[in-house]
Amino acid sequence: MLTVIRKATLSRFLELLTSSSPLRARTVAAGMTSTGNQDYDQKVIPKDEVIRFIEECMCKAGTTKEDGRAVGHHLMTADYRGHFSHGMNRMQMYVTDIEKRITDPAARPQIVTDFQAIALVDGKNALGQVVGKYCMELAIEKAKKFGIGMVAARGSNHYGICGYYTMMAMEQGLIGFTCTNTSPLMAPTRSMKAALGTNPLSLGMAACDGDEFVLDMATTAVALGKIELAIRKNESIPEGWALGSDGKVTTDSEEAYKASLLMPLGGAEHNSGYKGYGLGLMVEILCGILSGSLFGPNIRTWKSDDKIADLGQCFMAINPEAFACGSKERLTTLLKQLRELPTCGEKQVLVAGDPERQHMKKVDKEGGITYHPNQLKASEEFAKHMGVRPMKPVNLFDFLSAKN
Ligand SMILES: NC(=O)c1ccc[n+]([C@@H]2O[C@H](COP(=O)([O-])OP(=O)(O)OC[C@H]3O[C@@H](n4cnc5c(N)ncnc54)[C@H](O)[C@@H]3O)[C@@H](O)[C@H]2O)c1
Repeated sequence: MLTVIRKATLSRFLELLTSSSPLRARTVAAGMTSTGNQDYDQKVIPKDEVIRFIEECMCKAGTTKEDGRAVGHHLMTADYRGHFSHGMNRMQMYVTDIEKRITDPAARPQIVTDFQAIALVDGKNALGQVVGKYCMELAIEKAKKFGIGMVAARGSNHYGICGYYTMMAMEQGLIGFTCTNTSPLMAPTRSMKAALGTNPLSLGMAACDGDEFVLDMATTAVALGKIELAIRKNESIPEGWALGSDGKVTTDSEEAYKASLLMPLGGAEHNSGYKGYGLGLMVEILCGILSGSLFGPNIRTWKSDDKIADLGQCFMAINPEAFACGSKERLTTLLKQLRELPTCGEKQVLVAGDPERQHMKKVDKEGGITYHPNQLKASEEFAKHMGVRPMKPVNLFDFLSAKN
């Protein structure tokens, strides 16, 4: 049965997540003290424990065990990869949507049309991760049969990090691609009104010996969360991130948040921002236009709960072996050549996916994910409210001592 969550508890939960934090909290969250040394009082949460917690909360909200686990695994993966804005802190948004009957926790996606390598799916307003997993599994099945599989979905919800789905295809030796439309937040070049979302996309391909390319990015200059962060730190924002309510580029974080008019990737027109606008529109064509979901400015505004999201998404899996032999080896060579390029500073050249791999390495070394203290406190309160066992942290020092 659906657990009814009191509004007061949810607002307290959100408040904790967005409240400003002291310097020590920030540095501890990064695993370091303010003097730059590792903080051995630091608590980490093992990955399995994160999944267990999210799964139980989602089940209490009304999902099946399988769907709760799918959401848990997805959100844990986002945190594991260092994308905390799309990990556990999204859970309360999903629960709120279920509670308000904006998302159906029991719905199953359904195939509308299925023709050889292509299918159209109706998500039936199920959780985005449930729709996403279903569609990418279908695309993979088709790619194994036809060399390529493409699935467009409508009736979906916020599906988390795009990279999760591309990696599903990569695990099967395929190239993965996905994108999603989202609530309007981007003001197209020359406009002063939001008409497209942050419309993220991802493409990934595995190379040899565990190496890989995983591009996973929004098509706006930044996410709204980065502007919220600047407000908390009482900082201005760089030119090219957002417009103010007057339609002019602003560096005032408060004004930018109030207007919620993100600039496309690239920023202003003279910095080629129209290319980011074009990419956002490309995503919309593959998502809303192909699937028949809502699209562009017609999608509900971000975090509003007055109507269902009806998002559109696109999933592709491609078998590289259907093309010239040796693509995996060529990719391995290329990634190596790129990383070995002479640098203009101290830092090494990276390829997409490297920052996330570095973060995962850190998590593995420390035995778990380091959450911001506010996130931990909020999760504890949420656990109490949902009647779920809170997450059990592990002390980093104990973990490292046990290993040595
Ligand atoms: N579902 C949604 O509605 C939604 C909306 C927006 C974003 N997202 C997700 O949020 C996450 C963050 O998106 P973002 O745009 O802020 O990502 P980002 O800017 O942190 O990274 C974008 C890409 O750039 C790569 N990268 C970073 N530094 C690099 C470097 N120095 N050299 C080469 N490559 C580098 C990363 O590996 C990544 O692939 C993504 O997982 C995205 O899917 C989801």
